[in-house]
Amino acid sequence: MQFIDLKTQQQQHLADGRGLREAIDKRIAGVLDHGQYILGPEVTELEQRLAAYVGVEHCVAVASGTDALLIALMALGVKAGDEVITTPFSFIATAETIALLGAVPVYVDIDRITYNLDPSRLQAAITSRTKAIIPVSLYGQPADFRTINAIAARNNLPVIEDGAQSFGATQHKRRSCGLSTIGITSFFPSKPLGGYGDGGACFTDERELADRIRRISRHGQSRRYFHTDLGVNGRIDTMQAAIILAKLDIFEVEVEARGRIGTQLTAHLQAAGIQNTPQLAPGNTSVYAQYTIQVDNRAAVQDALLQQSIPTAVHYPTLLCQQPALAGLGACAGCCQLSCGCPVAQAASERVLSLPMHPYLGNVDQQRIAAAVAAAVACANS
Ligand SMILES: Cc1ncc(COP(=O)(O)O)c(C=O)c1O
Repeated sequence: MQFIDLKTQQQQHLADGRGLREAIDKRIAGVLDHGQYILGPEVTELEQRLAAYVGVEHCVAVASGTDALLIALMALGVKAGDEVITTPFSFIATAETIALLGAVPVYVDIDRITYNLDPSRLQAAITSRTKAIIPVSLYGQPADFRTINAIAARNNLPVIEDGAQSFGATQHKRRSCGLSTIGITSFFPSKPLGGYGDGGACFTDERELADRIRRISRHGQSRRYFHTDLGVNGRIDTMQAAIILAKLDIFEVEVEARGRIGTQLTAHLQAAGIQNTPQLAPGNTSVYAQYTIQVDNRAAVQDALLQQSIPTAVHYPTLLCQQPALAGLGACAGCCQLSCGCPVAQAASERVLSLPMHPYLGNVDQQRIAAAVAAAVACANS
């Protein structure tokens, strides 16, 4: 069994009957034919289709989700000494990009149910140095943007949604990445909309912000060899844009399948006696970038599952505030200096376990996973 099955994906058929692999090959051949490897026409086409999909005015496609975060922060003017509030329970890029700009990550603990930044703790973390808030829509479901945006608006702060794992999910029928000042996502191959390499995108409704993001992603260039901002080489490759365009044609079907399979897997696990399955907040859908449960004796459960050829992963075993690379750079809101001020995230990091999940995970495999998890949990805790 595969943790994420990208081979089976290539064998799928599009609505017009063509195979996905054939469509990808054709897109790649198109780029080889026109030869515009940097900022070719596929980049603009991708940006237009992604903006329409998310329901925002502007999309700027960039080189990775990490670049999207960095460029979004730069476009908002985040600089050394500023504070940026985020969650400690995420991939390193969320805080790494804050720190790379010399700003200070301030960590707010997570909600017990959704694993996303707990809005009830947000106001207390805001200071006169706070410059932005980065909630992460972890595992595939959006953070609570209604509450977070309201607090941000009261404090005149922009909000960047790290939607690297939630592209395609919705909150009150609005798409992730269109829920705040800027939304960012990642097209890393294993992400819900994955390319065959690195890629990412920034989304916003604000024209000026979009222009700044675009400039910064292209060395701050406002016209040829004239640079008004400090920027980065953060463009997406034309080839990658072409591949993502082909995969976008089956994305809506895959988003629907992810939601359905997530619900089915939960039902199978619960029927097998596993209780700590994912829960959605009211108004949310999830794309289950990760399908994550909680278990005791995680390492033993993982070993037992591996013996049944069921791969697992841990997202994430070490909180951002405890990463050596970020040590001493940030603070947990309410931190007493001696121990992490994020006990909910700490407890989650010790217990979370991600199971195989992709849009082609069939019912037989789902049942096999549920039975194997139940047996592994029973064995590990006997
Ligand atoms: C929550 C989160 N943020 C940011 C990133 C960074 O994206 P990328 O790998 O495309 O740079 C990831 C990727 O794993 C992620 O999961």
